[in-house]
Amino acid sequence: MKILFLDQSGKPGGAELCLIDIAKPYRDSCLVGLFADGAFKNLLEQNQIPVQILTTQAIQVRKESSLAQGLGSLGQLIPLISKVTKIARDYDFIYANTQKALVVGALASFLARRPLVYHLHDILSPEHFSKTNRRIAVTLANRFASLVIANSQASQVAFIEAGGKAEITEVVYNGFDSQAYQVPESEVEKIRENLELDGQFVVGHFSRLAPWKGQHILIEALANTPENVTAILVGDALFGEQNYVKSLHEQVANLKLEKRVKFLGFRSDIPQLMTACNLVAHTSTAAEPFGRVIVEAMLCGTPVVATKAGGAMELVEPDVNGFLVTPSEPQELAEVINSCFLQPENCHALAKNARVSASQRFDVSVINQQIYHLLK
Ligand code: UDP
Ligand code: GLC
Repeated sequence: MKILFLDQSGKPGGAELCLIDIAKPYRDSCLVGLFADGAFKNLLEQNQIPVQILTTQAIQVRKESSLAQGLGSLGQLIPLISKVTKIARDYDFIYANTQKALVVGALASFLARRPLVYHLHDILSPEHFSKTNRRIAVTLANRFASLVIANSQASQVAFIEAGGKAEITEVVYNGFDSQAYQVPESEVEKIRENLELDGQFVVGHFSRLAPWKGQHILIEALANTPENVTAILVGDALFGEQNYVKSLHEQVANLKLEKRVKFLGFRSDIPQLMTACNLVAHTSTAAEPFGRVIVEAMLCGTPVVATKAGGAMELVEPDVNGFLVTPSEPQELAEVINSCFLQPENCHALAKNARVSASQRFDVSVINQQIYHLLK
């Protein structure tokens, strides 16, 4: 199977990390075309996946764009669409992994007469996308895609509610190599020592810094927990959220939490860092489409608390493999942190369950088989 994967991002967000695992089995015959240069390209190369940067011009449409802004960017897309059309003729089908990739991929699939698959990593709801963007995504998917792979039931339902055809959708969760999350104790000790976390109860937050990822909720919760509870915030502002980063630092200073909140920036040693945590907190204030970090925490054997919305509710069964709290409710989060701090045995039992069930449910080889059967 010769697949032309398309992704708009040069940066490694969750959808891009998921694509690496999907493209790996096809690396001898596929190509990943990107609409921006950056660290994602290097990661693909490290995984021996052929990659080509198809444009370096930023596409000026944002999640909240209006129709006029969307149409304005069409002119900018024409050279890219014609390039993709030409390349697509050497491939069996096009696999669009993001929304802008869908726009370009849909038109190229029509012009090159190649089938289109759309991997939907988003919840197409008003809290995430403008009406125009939702309409464009659904119209193009309905008209051109033979298959829409939704990363969760929550994403699938939102697609259908936005007018998407139910019969072309299939839910496939992200896959993970559980071995990669088995970290030797010596590495964990080294991390805790380097980050001066000894004697601390560490709550980890792993996500790009963005308002809807809710790092501010964790900081607020932290103020209502004992002195030796420390938070590590792992991740960077990937899409220009500099004002949010500034507001987080101000919040930390106002609450006098400078010694208890560590901003670590973007890191590649996620399994090591997660294993070094006593609890991983997912705090998205809007429904999370899937939530890779939740599964990763489970695979590390670290207790996890997530917000009760979207895909997270398909991953966490409360008091069986983790905890769920109401989005944007720091007090509820503080209560979970405090109870894990006071009763670590209970949390460890849940985390043990979670590790076993997550390594079966999200096994990358099983997920890749599912995708293979859908594609063939
Ligand atoms: N991640 C990472 N380094 C960081 C922060 C996050 O590699 O510093 C990874 C994280 O382990 C996860 C992904 O980025 O695999 C984020 O995916 P998720 O589905 O949780 O959220 P998204 O950012 O895609 O909405
Ligand atoms: C997107 C979503 C995230 C999901 C990831 C992988 O980036 O925001 O929730 O886990 O895609 O499907």
